[in-house]
Amino acid sequence: VTTRTPFIAGNWKMNLDHLQSIAFVQKLAWSLKDAKHDYASVETAIFPPFTDLRSVQTLIDADRLELSLGAQDLSPSDSGAYTGDISGAFLARLDVKYVIVGHSERRTIHGETDEVLAAKVAAAHRHGLVPVVCVGETAEDLEKHGPSAVPVAQLRAALSQVPASAEIVVAYEPVWAIGSGQAATPDQAEQVCAALRSTLVEVLGADAAAATRILYGGSVKSSNIAAFMREPNVDGALVGGASLDIPEFASIVRYQH
Ligand code: G3P
Repeated sequence: VTTRTPFIAGNWKMNLDHLQSIAFVQKLAWSLKDAKHDYASVETAIFPPFTDLRSVQTLIDADRLELSLGAQDLSPSDSGAYTGDISGAFLARLDVKYVIVGHSERRTIHGETDEVLAAKVAAAHRHGLVPVVCVGETAEDLEKHGPSAVPVAQLRAALSQVPASAEIVVAYEPVWAIGSGQAATPDQAEQVCAALRSTLVEVLGADAAAATRILYGGSVKSSNIAAFMREPNVDGALVGGASLDIPEFASIVRYQH
């Protein structure tokens, strides 16, 4: 039986500058320390903006914090004439472990296609980063195609350029639930996460599928996290708005208590 360590991640999006990020991470760490948080039982990750990564990484290192560090995006290319882009190599040099790929805000605002995202997943793998591959349907997709078709197709496309041995995390984020206050029900999340796991069985094989963490994201808060975590195919959460509120994020991370 494979056990998957629960994974709770805060996606800060474009919030907190590098000075604010230091104060924030210090307070979060104190709050989790006061609560005697057992980091081994729940992997706790934060995804600050690029400009914060160096400061946050230094703080994690200096204070030996057990927080995993992630970035919110990366370039599909390794270096060169790509003004404004950030290479996976740069992220790896900063001890970044995870990188979000394919967040719906990148797909819609920046027009990132399945093809570009597959190249980003491959770039993450090349640089030893674990991509957190985001998939999810819009309200319109849901009406037209049902709950799982679009997320499953997005996942297949995203994994088309990596070997089956690549470590990944999957995040199911229904677009209609992001920032809307209207989370999916635990049942809805489980149904799609189960379909995503079956897709992983086909693409990566049974062992890798059983070891891969699948997160739910979309209006997660301290009052609904425990119900999501009771679902057999939901292994964690990708938290947006609530990850910017220290007591709220600390209670999400401590959902077992
Ligand atoms: O990546 C997390 C996110 O899109 C969910 O945002 O604010 O609904 O928790 P939020």
